[in-house]
Amino acid sequence: MGVVITVTSGKGGTGKTSITGGVAASLALMGRRVLCIDMDIGLRNLDISLGLSDRALMDFTDVAMGYCPLARAAVNHPELPGLSLLTAPMSLPSGLTAGKVRALLDTARSLYDAILIDSPAGLGVGFRMAACGADRALVVATSDASSLRDAQRTVLALAGLGQVHLVMNRIQPKLLHKLRTTIDDAMDTAGLPLMGVVPEDPRVMLAANRGIPLATLERKGATLACWNIAQRLEGRQVPIMRIR
Ligand SMILES: Nc1ncnc2c1ncn2[C@@H]1O[C@H](COP(=O)(O)OP(=O)(O)O)[C@@H](O)[C@H]1O
Ligand SMILES: [Mg+2]
Repeated sequence: MGVVITVTSGKGGTGKTSITGGVAASLALMGRRVLCIDMDIGLRNLDISLGLSDRALMDFTDVAMGYCPLARAAVNHPELPGLSLLTAPMSLPSGLTAGKVRALLDTARSLYDAILIDSPAGLGVGFRMAACGADRALVVATSDASSLRDAQRTVLALAGLGQVHLVMNRIQPKLLHKLRTTIDDAMDTAGLPLMGVVPEDPRVMLAANRGIPLATLERKGATLACWNIAQRLEGRQVPIMRIR
């Protein structure tokens, strides 16, 4: 049975899509069968982060509504065996219910080892859909106060979900020093245990712009951080990266 992990944050632009893509591709490189589901309806871009730009013809709502089987709608990555993507539609179809999304996720659990959902910003209908059938969640935040406050609110909205962990993204030690804050402070504010710390790394944007999955670059910086998160999701003990 596969595990469904929703990647969420409340605030936009914290790195949900980049981290969903980085962790999913790392799991695939580890030999896992991984399905990514973009649930950012109207603003999808997980395809770009995975290097699968605009390849999908069908989206996750086509599968949830019963118009197309999952195996046909999912786009298989040409370079990363085991990695597939179900994209998001441009608008929310009427008749899509949480029950239908949960049924889609149950089918996905029987076919994949891990299902990573890229959640939209905010705590609205898209967020609720991304969270309704999840087994666990990664809340992605940056070190600014508004991102951490939104993370806190997201945690409240995820109440009842088994395991919820924090991923701190775009970390720059000098900036943390200037802000007089630490990763421990961020964990206290969000009220979450830490799953990973991802450094500020220009290769995140460069890789997406070139259509190259971040996880396939040299294993350092954000690539290594996503790899470590994937390892921890697999239950391995990996020390938190020291960022200089
Ligand atoms: N660790 C990082 N280092 C540098 N840039 C990053 C990092 N994580 C994300 N970004 C950049 O931040 C922007 C927003 O990231 P994205 O993953 O789209 O966030 P979200 O999905 O939360 O809106 C993108 O331009 C992305 O390239
Ligand atoms: Mg996004």
